[in-house]
Amino acid sequence: MKKSFLLFLVLLTALVPVRADEGMWLPLLISSRIADMRAKGCRLTAEDIYSVNQASLKDAVVRFGGGCTGEVVSPDGLLFTNHHCGYGQIQQHSTVEHDYLKDGFWAMSRAEELPNPGLTVSFLQSMEDVTERVLKGYKPSMTNGQRDSVVQANSRILTESINNPAKGIRSTVEGLYYANQYFLFVYKIYSDVRLVGAPPSSIGKFGGDTDNWMWPRHTGDFSIFRIYADKNNEPAEYSKDNVPYKPKRYFTISRKGVKEGDFTLVYGCPGTTKEYVTSDEVRYTGEVSDPEKIALRTMRLDIQKKYMSQDQAVRIQYSSKNANVSNAWKKWQGEAKGLARRKTVESKQEFEARFRKWAENNEYKGLLEEISALYEQRNPYFRAQEYYNETVSTIELLAFASRIYATLEQGRPVDALTEAFFKDYYQPIDEEAFVAMMGAFDKQLSADFKPAYHAQKLAQYGSLEAWRNDVFARSVFTDKAKVLKLTKADLPKLEADPAYEMYKAYNQWYRKDLQPVVSRLGQQISLANRRYMKAQMEFEPNKDFYPDANRTLRVSYGQVAGYKPSDAIYYSPVSTLQGIIEKDNPDIFDYNIPQTLRDIYAEGGHDDQPVCFLATNHTSGGNSGSPVLNADGQLIGINFDRVWEGTMSDLAFDPDFCRNISLDIRYLLFVVEKIGHANWLLDEMTFAD
Ligand code: ARG
Ligand code: ASP
Repeated sequence: MKKSFLLFLVLLTALVPVRADEGMWLPLLISSRIADMRAKGCRLTAEDIYSVNQASLKDAVVRFGGGCTGEVVSPDGLLFTNHHCGYGQIQQHSTVEHDYLKDGFWAMSRAEELPNPGLTVSFLQSMEDVTERVLKGYKPSMTNGQRDSVVQANSRILTESINNPAKGIRSTVEGLYYANQYFLFVYKIYSDVRLVGAPPSSIGKFGGDTDNWMWPRHTGDFSIFRIYADKNNEPAEYSKDNVPYKPKRYFTISRKGVKEGDFTLVYGCPGTTKEYVTSDEVRYTGEVSDPEKIALRTMRLDIQKKYMSQDQAVRIQYSSKNANVSNAWKKWQGEAKGLARRKTVESKQEFEARFRKWAENNEYKGLLEEISALYEQRNPYFRAQEYYNETVSTIELLAFASRIYATLEQGRPVDALTEAFFKDYYQPIDEEAFVAMMGAFDKQLSADFKPAYHAQKLAQYGSLEAWRNDVFARSVFTDKAKVLKLTKADLPKLEADPAYEMYKAYNQWYRKDLQPVVSRLGQQISLANRRYMKAQMEFEPNKDFYPDANRTLRVSYGQVAGYKPSDAIYYSPVSTLQGIIEKDNPDIFDYNIPQTLRDIYAEGGHDDQPVCFLATNHTSGGNSGSPVLNADGQLIGINFDRVWEGTMSDLAFDPDFCRNISLDIRYLLFVVEKIGHANWLLDEMTFAD
């Protein structure tokens, strides 16, 4: 029986090739993939990866802070993640005297490790399919609203019986497969997480935004933390009496290195993907949303860059803002291009034609038409919302005015906020962006998708420039000294401030005229997608569907592989120190390496020092910091990025172009030893060789 079942599984995977390496699989259900994984070189069992009964690899993986992943690498709770994931903490500890962002930070003993209030890491304790329990009492005759109430009530009963804040235990019920199935996730959350080490940004952010989303890549994108616990190894707020956390499991590190074709497994928490939506959503994303948002951000980036290149102080002020704007900007370019290249709209439409035929005689007849109609209704409102987000709400003065107003309203002091704002504010950039952004808003949206206030102001001033000049001349929010003196008593006066008034007029329109429509139609689309997901699973009963990403823990597997970005170019998958030296240029901020690295290189013998590698794992935002494991489950790298040509993987995975970028763990070891001289950390790690 068992044997024939196995044979059946093998046949199944042979008959139904899920496209190479696509998928973010639930660890609990990894047994359905293990045959395919082993065929590709993996030597692990499903039980090694996720086990209910004993410590498994999942016990060494954490959700790090809000949006990243991390991995435990020692019996004393040592943790690796990316430099860009620990960036906020590194920055918080930095002062002019100790600039850890610039110079790096290395604790030389446990006593020197730095606490980070607010930072948590979450271990997944268990996951479980609770669909039956969550839908208990649901009847098909119920309305969607009634179904929601049933789901919420049952979920609350489940989670409340488990949650235990004093012990750091928190559980959530998550709807997977568009809420056709419900899973219970139980986490243990540790809140004393200390900074142990970080390379200088000239290593940890080497290549900056120039190389972001690109290959060849040479970023030493790692930082090191340690988890602390109380005397019983339980979660506790920071205390000097806390002790290093003793993990159930930590990763053994392999220094053997990687080569093309090697099996790779990424274990982490991808944020959001939409692999099962209709061609309507893909078309909107690739042909409307991405190109329009790219154009708007290009304008903003160009304005920022112009002033940044003229003045070193402005460059520092806007470097982080600029990085934020450019990260998604670059990702969207790859996404739009990738969707077009792969003809995702057309291939979805072909699928939909086959689906429609199948659905002619069942309950799903008309579903695709219903979904298309909903998108058609939603899109103009959604587009206006996106314009608002990318134009009006990017005007820094308006955002500042609204934050100060809210702070005063709550009776809280405004000085810290004000200092922080002006430290990184350069008014000429904001003034120029005002005209560019309001101009685009004006030109690209039809009159019925703009607030009445917009037309009034333009008529009143006659031009965008005149409007802008008046806002910046009269607003109190351009004047730090005046803002610092504001109190709650000034609130009525602020209503007439041109910046606050403008913020409020657009925001009210957004909240009254756009948001309710978008959210109502969005809910209807979700409900229709729930049926469509279920229908797709019935339409292709032999396909192994992975649920779209939703920040829960996933396994994706693949292999080390290069790619062909365009005709006559092949990118090989491993980068080395040689490439860093080739890029090194003291005059280019992104490529100016520390002198010590130059000196080490000059000693000789390090040309082939590996730095980063490419693989075919299906990853997304949130997978940053994820452990990259070899066929034996040993740590070979830390995931930190994808190549821009493959960023459409959030909607459609293309095996020819989708590559994740990882830091080679040997570069981390090299930097810890040669740059940080923190060998005491290496002593507590376990090496496979
Ligand atoms: N592109 C990567 C991600 O989406 C890295 C971003 C941080 N690095 C940067 N240069 N902005 O998070
Ligand atoms: N850089 C991303 C992150 O921070 C990873 C990605 O989008 O591939 O999670």
